[in-house]
Amino acid sequence: MTYDTLILGAGAAGMMCAAHCGGRVLVVDHAKAAGEKIRISGGGRCNFTNMFAEPANFISGNPHFCKSALARFTQWDFVAMVDKAGIKWHEKTLGQLFCDNSAKDIVKMLLDLMEQAGAELWLETAVEGVSREGDLFQVRLVRSGRPMTVEAKRVVLATGGKSIPKMGATGIAYQIAQGFGLKVTDTRPALVPLTFSSQPFAGISGTAIPGRVRAGNGSFDEAVLFTHRGLSGPAILQASSYWTEGDSIHMTLCPENDWMALLRQARTDTPRRQIGTALAEHLPKKLAQLLDETWGLQDQLANTTDKRLSEVAALLADWELTPTGSEGYRTAEVTLGGIDTNGLSSKTMEAKDVPGLYAIGECVDVTGWLGGFNFQWAWSSAMACAKAI
Ligand code: FDA
Repeated sequence: MTYDTLILGAGAAGMMCAAHCGGRVLVVDHAKAAGEKIRISGGGRCNFTNMFAEPANFISGNPHFCKSALARFTQWDFVAMVDKAGIKWHEKTLGQLFCDNSAKDIVKMLLDLMEQAGAELWLETAVEGVSREGDLFQVRLVRSGRPMTVEAKRVVLATGGKSIPKMGATGIAYQIAQGFGLKVTDTRPALVPLTFSSQPFAGISGTAIPGRVRAGNGSFDEAVLFTHRGLSGPAILQASSYWTEGDSIHMTLCPENDWMALLRQARTDTPRRQIGTALAEHLPKKLAQLLDETWGLQDQLANTTDKRLSEVAALLADWELTPTGSEGYRTAEVTLGGIDTNGLSSKTMEAKDVPGLYAIGECVDVTGWLGGFNFQWAWSSAMACAKAI
């Protein structure tokens, strides 16, 4: 039997596409259930989009590529779908929209829409490879342990990236794309905690503070979490997408504080104190102690010049740290890089030189910030593809 469209991967993008593309559609996935990443996302409540989503929130070799799809299916279009399905939602912070009840509601909504559209879903079906004979694609599958080949007029790559292999991420979309002559940019883990081999923060693990973290040309004001292995928290996860191995990151502790003014005030109010002790008034005690030891802040405030205070204020405003690595794909929320957008139409997601082959979602070289942007890319790219089909 020949399908009009064979969608590889029943994740966010694959299900969204299957629910809207029409014709005889088959979706295959090697997992036991569809939409597993949706189910566990956002702490089980799925941060399904962001009110402020715009192209600037996405990283790609071609920053213009995502514009068309995002403009033609916006966050408000997805919110309208969620509303229509009767799913209640709320804004948590910074425009991040979450389900009130459970991420499973989003999975169910997509499965219901797929069923209404008459799309078939084969679970526990692994994709082994894709080739083309004449106008038809031949997709090699292993279904419940049995090898088989299915024919289709169109194939949609929606198998995501490499993050969290334990959940079934394989990166097979890259191999298939390369097999058809498409380029794949360098890929690396993103939205991932950063690590330090010397474990400098092991003693203050669990401490969190507001921070501004800069890496490359990214800068994010959110919480920073000190961990046993290094640094995490939203500001670090965001910055990790702009960080490359060997580079340092720059951190401002409590960016709303005017550190110079606070230190001067401390010198007036408590001149007998040491600088490090004064810092403990404005930072978690354990962190202040660590800074005291690391930066040698034992000078008594009364004997401290403005020059010395401004040196300390500068360290607090621009703490340079060089991570040795990241936690890798084991915990990364997404994969940075992917199928080179130069080979794809931004309007339809179809490969320019391979008619009938499409790529959507995370396998494409478009990576969103933390905060619902990656799902929005999955929805928008899937809709661009579905409308074209
Ligand atoms: P996705 O990974 O969802 O789906 C790919 C599918 O392909 C999977 O079902 C997989 O089993 C299947 N597959 C892979 N290889 C296969 C093969 N060889 N054969 C058959 N099937 C195969 N984003 C966001 O916007 N808000 C959030 O709250 C979160 N939270 C979050 C938490 C965690 C823990 C993670 C890991 C990630 C997030 N994300 C997120 C990111 C988000 O989950 C991700 O960007 C999207 O799921 C990408 O959607 P795709 O459909 O492209 O891939």
